[in-house]
Amino acid sequence: MSNANGEAIAALDFLTSEWLAFGNRLPEFIAAADREERCALLPLMAANLVLSMYSDDGHRAAGQYLARAKALARDGADANDRERAWLAATEAWVDGDADRSLDRLDHLTARWPRDLLAGKLGQLHAFNRGDAQALLRFGERLLDAGRDNRFVHAMYAFGLVENHRVDEAEGIARDALSLDRDDPWAHHVVAHCLEARGRLVEGEAFLAAMSDTWERCNSFMYTHNWWHLALFLIDLERADEALALYDKRVWGVWKEFCEDQINAVSLLARLELRGLDVGDRWADLAAYLKPRLHEHYSPFLDLQYLYGLARAGERSAVIEMLASLEERAENAKPFERAAWGDCAVPMAHGLAAHATGNHAEAAPLLGRAMPHVQSIGGSIAQRALFGAIHLDALMRSGWNDAAIALLLADEHARPTLPWTKRSLGELYRRVGRTEQATVAELEAGQLAARYRTRSPE
Ligand SMILES: [Fe+2]
Repeated sequence: MSNANGEAIAALDFLTSEWLAFGNRLPEFIAAADREERCALLPLMAANLVLSMYSDDGHRAAGQYLARAKALARDGADANDRERAWLAATEAWVDGDADRSLDRLDHLTARWPRDLLAGKLGQLHAFNRGDAQALLRFGERLLDAGRDNRFVHAMYAFGLVENHRVDEAEGIARDALSLDRDDPWAHHVVAHCLEARGRLVEGEAFLAAMSDTWERCNSFMYTHNWWHLALFLIDLERADEALALYDKRVWGVWKEFCEDQINAVSLLARLELRGLDVGDRWADLAAYLKPRLHEHYSPFLDLQYLYGLARAGERSAVIEMLASLEERAENAKPFERAAWGDCAVPMAHGLAAHATGNHAEAAPLLGRAMPHVQSIGGSIAQRALFGAIHLDALMRSGWNDAAIALLLADEHARPTLPWTKRSLGELYRRVGRTEQATVAELEAGQLAARYRTRSPE
């Protein structure tokens, strides 16, 4: 680190542990970066931190932090190689080229694999472009170079689970917990693993047992881990309890923050797909989504904002956002075309149609987008929302065979959901497969009864 006194080093150490632990004291680092007058790395890291807020305010602030970092480093003349690599990665992100930033961080971590923040940000970029291999690559690199570090295990495990290596991921995440029971990212990876396997009773019990430690978390991690718990409750047919979590834990911590917003959109949508009336909750949420119509930081975020607005009946906002999304897709750089053009545009129109009950129009639009859905980023569990809405549109508009095919894939991956079996039963009955319908309905009833008595799978 160039030009760093003890205070600057302490501030960067604090940032690293607070960021990787998803702590709620990050504003203290920002204050330290604002005070710093010599060490370029402080404003440089502050730029990355505010960029990760994915907001226009964050983006503006990042430009200022980057300028200050460049001035302190005298445009790199007063910086070492690693700091110059950080400057290049940060500049690329400020310029809106997250892909180039990822590339720089890839090189940076290959050379300095114990740079935990570079690995964390590399994973963030990889996550946002649906690049599961890159997500894993950063995790492997960090783990190889730093097994002694308590954070790298869960970072690696998340890469594994997003590559469908679920059992390995669970083992590594539990190793992480043996080093630090409080690691919320390890809780999160275990949640993904249990979710992927349909281990619902275990998933709910595990997260509930860990939830006391999330009070120290920032709003993303706090609301997201509670969101995961709510997903287990929904599949356990306890949607009313999931809705209570929405009110108490998922929505309301930091209503202006994109991550809190998409957790809320996704949870309300999933509750509605299971037939729950969520009352006027969309209206409150939409008030915070409206300022975001033209942001386009990520198609994954945008699509959830759009669905929330559409469910709230914000017709003119939806029309404006659809037009803006189309323009964004037309201006997409080559590496972004699948995400914006092939996925986001038809998906957005399909979601808008679904939100207004136009299922016959929604089904083919969503069907066009779904093969490209990984490119928009997010996790497998988060993207499952779009698959669920697509399935709903197919079921409600009489595409019985297509709906059965999707349900069978779900049933194969997670044979523990009464809802999947019940839906299969309904569709089998529609297409005249009475015997199969009876079996599916019977199994659904048995499973639901077992969950009512809360016994494990
Ligand atoms: Fe997650």
